Amino acid sequence: MAASGIALILFLVVHLAGNLTLFVGNGELFNSYAAHLEGLPVIVYAAEAGLLAIVIYHIVTAIQIQFGKFDARGSRYEVVASKGGPSKQTLSSRSMIITGLVLLVFIPVHVVMFKFNWFQPHGTTQLHGETVKDLYGTVVAHFKHPGWVWFYESVLLLLGLHLRHGFWSSLQSLGAMNPKCSPLVYAGGLVFAALMAGGFMLLPVYILLKCGGCCGGAP
Ligand code: HEM
Repeated sequence: MAASGIALILFLVVHLAGNLTLFVGNGELFNSYAAHLEGLPVIVYAAEAGLLAIVIYHIVTAIQIQFGKFDARGSRYEVVASKGGPSKQTLSSRSMIITGLVLLVFIPVHVVMFKFNWFQPHGTTQLHGETVKDLYGTVVAHFKHPGWVWFYESVLLLLGLHLRHGFWSSLQSLGAMNPKCSPLVYAGGLVFAALMAGGFMLLPVYILLKCGGCCGGAP
């Protein structure tokens, strides 16, 4: 669970870094990044297959752990409260299964939206004299609608909660956490989750503010 969690965290870091190019210019850098990836089909297909396998493994293990916890206890707690100190129970740790389920619904919607363009077919654009997929236009076409922005902001907030607990508990499970540095890693989880969720959350809002009044796909 921990190793698959860390692999997914790495994917998210790379994904956010790529998406931050949306802030530059009018999508030229973002489209150029997407076009470069399209030029490496073998690597991209291998990475996608690996990612899918890791996501499935992560979900199956989460379900096993959840049912395992319930079987071991035989019943639900009547009062849910943190023991404090080393127990480290928080809203984030207690809601892992809920936030995980929300992400499980979100990811397919997100992939059909941006990768398979079910709701908004990709246009094309010119880049250095070549015709490439206008992925930037697809992103703009969605995020210029406040409804999609609200949907993303809500899910990304929950992603932050999921990452907050996932970050430090993965390190702890892998035995990489020295008890002396545990407060540091714990605080690091909070900062990391805030940066990741905050970074993703800026994107839809930025596009809405920049292109909310535009009529076409891209401004
Ligand atoms: C505002 C935030 C986000 C934006 C703007 C965004 C944008 C995109 C775009 C444009 C693609 C299509 C890439 C392509 O076709 O080459 C994509 C794919 C994907 N995104 Fe996101 N994304 C965001 C957040 C997330 C989050 C939070 C997750 C996971 C929790 C995620 C998971 C994925 C996955 C799994 C794919 C498919 C990757 C592949 O098959 O190559 N994205 N995203």
